[in-house]
Amino acid sequence: MNTLVWLIGMAISFSVTMPVNACPPSDRAALLAFKASLHEPNLGIFKSWTGTDCCNKWYGITCDSLTKRVADINLRGESEDPIFQKAHRTGYMTGSISPAICKLERLSSVIIADWKGISGIIPPCISSLPSLRILDLSLNRLTGPIPDSLGKMSVLGTLNLDGNLISGKLPATLINSRISILNLSRNAIEGNIPDVFDSRSYFMLMDLSYNKLKGSIPKSISSASFIGHLDLSHNHLCGAIPAAEWFEHLEATSFMYNDCLCGKPLKACS
Ligand SMILES: *[C@@H]1O[C@H](CO)[C@@H](O)[C@H](O)[C@H]1NC(C)=O
Repeated sequence: MNTLVWLIGMAISFSVTMPVNACPPSDRAALLAFKASLHEPNLGIFKSWTGTDCCNKWYGITCDSLTKRVADINLRGESEDPIFQKAHRTGYMTGSISPAICKLERLSSVIIADWKGISGIIPPCISSLPSLRILDLSLNRLTGPIPDSLGKMSVLGTLNLDGNLISGKLPATLINSRISILNLSRNAIEGNIPDVFDSRSYFMLMDLSYNKLKGSIPKSISSASFIGHLDLSHNHLCGAIPAAEWFEHLEATSFMYNDCLCGKPLKACS
């Protein structure tokens, strides 16, 4: 009996006296491995990444307030942050995105954008992050294809990869995923737009402009539940623009500068 009381007492005091108050060493190690493949010569943002608690004043890092797991990485090359004003410059960073980032398994938002010099591929293991809602790697020099698996993530809602050097085809998985904000503009994405739109396709924004897409706009696009802002301009698309209820609000600019698209809102097909 005494032992039982003692055990319960221990269990209670353990949970009360052991609040999590710092970043777990495994998250800290993953961040340092992530940093090791990056080079940021102008601002010195990584000088703040010292000490054992990565939740405490590490530039661009936010942790969950209860679990102290790393929740957000927010590194933008353009910012109002005083660190930029002090250095009198915009950001420039080279290097690559280390797969070590995938060990930060509670990540909810990853923004590593507008550094102009980050190269290499998008690590496919990013799709194993179960809580990731936002992935913004725009305005860098990333190459290689978009991993198919990004379209199968359970909560990813925003995918911005615009302004990189991404090639390969547009993964069909992105078309009927949970993603509702998709900007892939200004890359080198080729091939057809997959003909797999269905009622799960709900886009507040789908910008595929300035790529190398060819073929026609797939008929299935009419079965998407909604596409608020669509931009297919500056590609090599051809043929009749399908009709859809929500196409009514789209303007010619969404379709201009293609090889031979026709029909409303462009001029009638002959
Ligand atoms: C998509 O990204 C491009 C290139 O960075 C940008 O110019 C454009 O405004 C973005 N599209 C929308 C609709 O926000």
